[in-house]
Order: sequence, then C-alpha cells, then structure tokens
Amino acid sequence: MRYRYLGRAGIQVSELSLGSWVTFKNQVDVKAAVECMGAAHEAGVNFFDNAEVYAHGKSEEIMGAALKQLGWRRSSYLVSTKIFWGLEDSVNEHDTLNRKRLIEGINGSLRRLQLDYVDIFFCHRPDPNTPIEETVWAIHNIIESGKALYWGTSEWSAGEIAAAIEIAERHHLHKPVTEQPEYNLFRRERFEKEYARIFKDYRYGSTIWSPLASGLLTGKYGNGIPQDSRATLKGYDWLRSRLTDKNNLAKVQALEPIASELGCSLAQLSIAWILQNPNVSTVITGASRVEQVRENMQAVEVAPRLTPEIMNRIDDIFGVKKDDEE
Ligand SMILES: NC(=O)c1ccc[n+]([C@@H]2O[C@H](COP(=O)([O-])OP(=O)(O)OC[C@H]3O[C@@H](n4cnc5c(N)ncnc54)[C@H](OP(=O)(O)O)[C@@H]3O)[C@@H](O)[C@H]2O)c1
Repeated sequence: MRYRYLGRAGIQVSELSLGSWVTFKNQVDVKAAVECMGAAHEAGVNFFDNAEVYAHGKSEEIMGAALKQLGWRRSSYLVSTKIFWGLEDSVNEHDTLNRKRLIEGINGSLRRLQLDYVDIFFCHRPDPNTPIEETVWAIHNIIESGKALYWGTSEWSAGEIAAAIEIAERHHLHKPVTEQPEYNLFRRERFEKEYARIFKDYRYGSTIWSPLASGLLTGKYGNGIPQDSRATLKGYDWLRSRLTDKNNLAKVQALEPIASELGCSLAQLSIAWILQNPNVSTVITGASRVEQVRENMQAVEVAPRLTPEIMNRIDDIFGVKKDDEE
C-alpha cells in the first residue's frame, strides 16, 4: 500500500480506504465488519469512512463495535463521519449544517463509534440555508474541543469550498482540507473540471466515493441482477436502472479486453484508473464481503501498469475527448 497526503494537511491516507455505506447493517454485521476491516488493515488501509445517516446510525455502531474487537492502537488509524441529513425529522435537525445540529451530531456519532474523536469530520452536503460562516465557526469549535482533528466537504461546489476556505482564513479558523466527491469512469466531469481550481489553488485533498459506481464497473450486472447484490436490496431500487442500463453495460464490457491484457479484474482496473489521478488522496472502496476487499486491495498493484496508451483506450471507450479535439 502506498500513502498520499490528504491535500495540504500533514496526515497521510492509504491510497485505498474502506467505507460502510449500504453495506454495514444491510449486508455486513459486526462479525463481517471485523473481517472486512481486518483484511483492509492487513493490506495497509489506515482510513475507514462512515456517516451518521448510514443505516440511521447503525453503521457507526457496527464500526465502533468492530474497532473495539480489532483493538488497534487509536493513533494508528483514521476514522471519519459525515453530517447533514440528520436522524430526526423535526425542524433544525435535518438537511442542515447549523451550529446546534453539528455540535449535537458529533456527540451522537462519537457515542455510537465509541471514540473520543473522529479524524475527519465531513459536511455530507452543502446547506444553502445556513451561512457558511456559521458552519465554519461551529466546526472550528468542534476541532478546538478535540472531537475532530480535520474537516472536509462532500459534494460542495468549487465556489462553496473556496468560500469556506476564505472565511476560515479571514478569521484564522481551521480550514477544510478535503472534499469527498464521487469519481469513477462514469462520473468524471465535476472532479476533473469544476474542482481543478481548488486542487491547484488550495491543494485540497479528495476522498473518492463509489469508485465502482455501486458495483456496475465490476461487470457483474452484464447478465442481469445477481443475487445478493446491492441492486436487490430494499430501498435501493433507484440504483437498479443505472446498474442495468444497456449503454453503461456496453462500456463496461468494452473494458474487458484491457483487464485481461493486464491480468486483472474489472474492479481492479476501475479502481486503479482512479489512482492515476494525482488529485486523488484516497479511494474509498466498499465491500459486502471480505473476498471483495481482498480483490479490490490488489488494485494498487495494477495502477502502475496503466500506461498512457491504456489510459487513452479507456478514454475512447467512455467517449472522452482530448482538449485538442474540442
Ligand atoms: N460522501 C458521499 O456522499 C458518499 C456517497 C456514497 C458512498 N460514500 C463512501 O464511499 C464508500 C464506497 O462507496 P460504494 O460502496 O458505493 O463503492 P463502490 O465501489 O462503487 O461499490 C461497492 C459495492 O460494489 C460491490 N463490489 C465491490 N467490490 C466488488 C468486487 N470486487 N466484485 C464484485 N462486487 C464488488 C459490492 O456490492 P454488492 O456485493 O452488494 O453488489 C460493494 O458493496 C462508501 O462506503 C462510503 O463510505 C460516500
């Protein structure tokens, strides 16, 4: 495993990390979480991602119980959580980054995770109704109280990120250090174009989500929806059309010859492709079972074999035009 700095922050994250969205509670209990996190850790993973809203708090409880069993030194790994949607429907408690919610939210997350602090505290989405200044001050206070060490944004626009950094600079507050964006072979635009400036101007970090587009890029949806896959889960029907879209599946199939030339799986190729981008700090992988963790971790060995020629062939499959062709 190689490690990359989280943007301009002084900590390094493993190139691959492990997250718990969909999986923890729905597919992964404490025993399986211990197995998956254990296999990731054995491969060198030092960062585990979570969120308050995942399985309505249960995902944090499972990760907390797993960490307890695994018994690793707290200083040897990083854990994140994210807040925005909330756990209650009442006014001020959902879809917000107001001061009250953030302060109460972090306390709940720490209780469920059985931790004294999280390493990275993310604003899970931007909140157009709370002044960014209020959010930046509240998170600064959370960091000053020792309940979080660094903070980041998730799916904020480049303009919102720049505003948060500038407010923090003006008041000498802790600045956000990383974005958590979706980035994979099907979703490139925002990461590669809109965020180019924040990577250049602020050396902002990035913790990538859904590297396999929820499993689509593994090729497993080529012959219909497999049993036990994410697309069969109750409440995730909205994913089904994307995972079975004929155009998407044709692109995935076209990657197969490249994967076989490299002697790797489609999952490994797709994750390795993300690692080629120097603006990526870590790719947060997801897995419903330990075999997937073991397979995905090997993407770090595939990444150095992606030559410019292979990268161009992949661009052609996904219809990406080079700048001089535009
Ligand atoms: N900030 C945000 O808004 C946001 C949003 C989404 C995710 N995230 C973070 O990013 C993490 C990763 O996202 P994701 O779970 O969507 O990642 P993903 O890599 O796109 O999808 C992971 C899923 O694909 C399937 N899979 C993975 N490896 C496989 C393999 N080798 N062979 C066959 N199937 C495989 C598994 O599902 P099945 O076995 O069920 O098919 C697995 O749960 C999350 O856990 C979360 O921490 C953040």
